[in-house]
Amino acid sequence: MKKVNEEIIEQLLNELSLEEKISMIHGNGLFCTGEVERLGIPSLKMADGPMGVRNDFENAQWKTIGLSDDFVTYLPSNSAIASTWNQDLAYLAGQVLGEEARGRGKDIILAPGINIKRSPLCGRNFEYISEDPKLIEAIAVPIIQGIQEFDVAACVKHFAANSQETERLWVDTLIDERSLREIYYPGFKAAIDKGGTYSLMGAYNLLRGEHCCTSQYLLGDILRGEWEYDGMVVSDWGGVHDTALAAKSELDIEMSVTYEFDDYFMANPLLLKIQSKELSEELVDKKIRNILRLMLRLNMIGDQKHNRVSGTYNTKEHQEAVLEIARESIVLLKNEEQLLPLEKESVKKIAVIGQNAERIHSNGGGSAEIKALYEISPLMGLKKFLGGNVAIEYAKGYYIPTEEEKNTLNWQASSLLSKDSSGLACGSNETRDNITSPEDKISHQQKLYRNNALEIAARCEQVIFIGGLNHDFDVEGQDRVDMQLPYAQDQLIEALLEIKPDMTIVLIAGSPVEMPWSSRAKAIVWTWYAGMEGGTALTEVLFGKTNPSGHLPETFPVRLMDLLVHQLDAFGQKDRVTYEEGINVGYRHFDTKKIEPAFCFGHGLSYTEFEYLYMVTTVNEDSAPMILVDLSIMNVGDTDGACVVQLYVSDIETKVDRPVHELRAFKKVHLSRGQKTTLQFELDYDAFGYFDESSKSFVALPGQYRIEVGNSSRDIRLSNVLTLKNTYYWK
Ligand code: GLC
Repeated sequence: MKKVNEEIIEQLLNELSLEEKISMIHGNGLFCTGEVERLGIPSLKMADGPMGVRNDFENAQWKTIGLSDDFVTYLPSNSAIASTWNQDLAYLAGQVLGEEARGRGKDIILAPGINIKRSPLCGRNFEYISEDPKLIEAIAVPIIQGIQEFDVAACVKHFAANSQETERLWVDTLIDERSLREIYYPGFKAAIDKGGTYSLMGAYNLLRGEHCCTSQYLLGDILRGEWEYDGMVVSDWGGVHDTALAAKSELDIEMSVTYEFDDYFMANPLLLKIQSKELSEELVDKKIRNILRLMLRLNMIGDQKHNRVSGTYNTKEHQEAVLEIARESIVLLKNEEQLLPLEKESVKKIAVIGQNAERIHSNGGGSAEIKALYEISPLMGLKKFLGGNVAIEYAKGYYIPTEEEKNTLNWQASSLLSKDSSGLACGSNETRDNITSPEDKISHQQKLYRNNALEIAARCEQVIFIGGLNHDFDVEGQDRVDMQLPYAQDQLIEALLEIKPDMTIVLIAGSPVEMPWSSRAKAIVWTWYAGMEGGTALTEVLFGKTNPSGHLPETFPVRLMDLLVHQLDAFGQKDRVTYEEGINVGYRHFDTKKIEPAFCFGHGLSYTEFEYLYMVTTVNEDSAPMILVDLSIMNVGDTDGACVVQLYVSDIETKVDRPVHELRAFKKVHLSRGQKTTLQFELDYDAFGYFDESSKSFVALPGQYRIEVGNSSRDIRLSNVLTLKNTYYWK
């Protein structure tokens, strides 16, 4: 963490009045704190979010100002950045975010979100990175470093265990110590120790009975105590519920969603308690120190403020950067008979079916929404690339009920709009012409849209389906109820496959969906909300201008009930949710229990092939690093490409329950066709350990371990067994 002159902090603290201090520790606007002009202490300006710098709101109401000066670069989501498995691109994303935030006059960007993707149903999964703490660390740390290069604070969120949206402000989360230490804490600890995040946001939920934003255990014992964090801690907006608790806690700034800023718990109510000597002013001084330290780190105050980096936004470089990230985020899930890439020269007429071909996503999702300078949809990307010489016929394909229709839909009636064997929406009035109710109207519309799409598909040689989810489902404040594709897309896909078995299926979403038709599909491409150039990047992949190199940062189950968290009914409770599955999140469960996923953690195909030639592991427990893993890989295909070499460690003699293997390192390697290269991984004892609750520390025991390398958690190409002779303990 950047060192600063603590004497300046003490000097300013001595000069500040109590009222001035209080003005600095709570919002005096929806996204800013009070300034102390006479001492040259500015207001802290904050802005969301992980996909770009959110538009400006009125200071004291949730109303966008609506000028033309806050259009910005719309970045790929954190899930998309994670899918690149490319730390350089993660750093680049951070740089874009930091420079744009500075350019927009912000001091803190409320990003990245790094909560564990514990269930595919969590509404904010699109904002998060992975199910795996090592991948979270590897992506979050460079994002934070990139942001802070521009004298803007990253604000890693939401600490901790905010992995569902259901009742997010009040749900009490119960997690065992080992799961906290092995799964839920490591991303945050790395964000501090390796990323040097200048700020951190407390989560809305409770952890073990305490609201995270004022939790003595979480912010005191763990964050400030064990981890010795000296950065600034801000609440989530409305995450504080008690003045005394907040004052005594390690929280520094209270933000909320209401407009009576002086009534915030850490505003006048706290002032009165201090003036009446009920609480000590020292409690506030601690907060002021952290706030002033943040300002010094950002060159906002002190003699360095004239050297503060200036930023900019909406530059060509930023747009090219987000295109590069989007390119590497796209995951080729399936490509039988090498159907992809399509050939621009040989195709004359393409049917593009599905509303995600045209849908704009930047303006949704909740606080991560972006007022994008532009957004290239897939349909625009295709037309731009094909340039008018190829006929493109577009059909919406599926009907999206209007808000009014959705609201009038009785929950039971709308269940009739789900699947049935006939492939047509059951409950539809196939036999009756009269449209009597909203569900009949929707079902009738679905039939019309589907028939129109099938007609167009039948007369085109190529069909590209572009569907998936949108921010009606991937959205803050609510969780999905299932993993199914909405709007009867499955029926449409099945019907299209009947007439076009070679069609390409593209899904755009922020979280896995069930794909009951996947065994019949030959070409499936997955893309996240991939930013303003998402349509350009997707088109390049479909037509081979870009060789896909994205890999899944989370497990795609065949069905929701394959997930232990859902088998145990341990997700989405309103008052208390117990993480019964413990450390068995994602592939840690699937691979240990040999459950076949639809597509596994780390999966991603390429238009070329990579061969793993050899691997040598060298162990020297007297040196650091202790283990060197040297391997050679070769691009044996006929096109350039990038390979994500993943390294998993398996404790083959384990004395305790452990996952069959765990990701401990990875490298992305770009290789020209025919090119061979060697690469080296360096491992230490921490790659072999687990958290031992009895000793309250991590431990790596002597014994045999298997080192596995491959293209995914299920595509292990080489493995070696090594032996550790010593026992290692660490915190
Ligand atoms: C929201 C979100 C948080 C966001 C903040 C400000 O409720 O939980 O991620 O940064 O409030 O919009």
